[in-house]
Amino acid sequence: MRDYYIAGNWKMHKTRSEAAELAGALAAQLKDGKHKYLVAPSFTSLETVGAIIKGTNIRLGAQDVACEEQGAHTGEVSVLQLKDLGVRTVILGHSERRHIYKEDDELINKKVKLALKHGFEVILCVGELLEEREAGKAEAVCETQTAKGLAGVALEDLDRVVIAYEPVWAIGTGKTATPEDADAVHAFIRKVIARLYGQAAAEQIVIQYGGSVKPENAAQLMAKENIDGALVGGAALKAETFVPIAKFG
Ligand code: 13P
Repeated sequence: MRDYYIAGNWKMHKTRSEAAELAGALAAQLKDGKHKYLVAPSFTSLETVGAIIKGTNIRLGAQDVACEEQGAHTGEVSVLQLKDLGVRTVILGHSERRHIYKEDDELINKKVKLALKHGFEVILCVGELLEEREAGKAEAVCETQTAKGLAGVALEDLDRVVIAYEPVWAIGTGKTATPEDADAVHAFIRKVIARLYGQAAAEQIVIQYGGSVKPENAAQLMAKENIDGALVGGAALKAETFVPIAKFG
């Protein structure tokens, strides 16, 4: 069956020395952890954190990647540069990229395909805004973001794709979706995957939940049938809150 996958998205936090301190604490405290783990520091800390978690059960992830391999793209970071640093996973389509930096589904899809072509695992984030939820459009938004994000992705590459359902209204707000509401959307996303790739693929794909995951709510969320892990923001910034989430239950 699906293995739980707990990921920490450190967003735009931590200098290299702060990142090194957290990475060291996680490497020590998650050594006996039973699930799959990932940390995604800022680009500037990837090399430092990568050296610390090398050979441990924690994967190294990046928070974004450019849509082109290389060239005149001032300010962007390429798949080749990430590969060179030992990054194995990229988070794509995060709501902060979509809404603050105006990334659209076409751009995100280009990044997804390029990252998969280079052998990366992709965590594709989807999720609705509060006004979309209130207008009854949560499922439609997640369906569009999933289908467009994965357009042109072959079935044989889907085992390197993870979906993260992150309702935008729950990110950084302290408001978590109830386990029931989150599970319902996860089940719906699984149906979308079944329509696009078949039932077997839908049963295998890992769908993380993200949005104010904390030590206090992790176990109830993870207990739901369709919730296979977490993409954690704020609570991932300290070992004392990330470790209990990573070792929930
Ligand atoms: P918070 O856990 O801070 O709500 O952030 C969630 C998130 O955006 C992870 O990518």
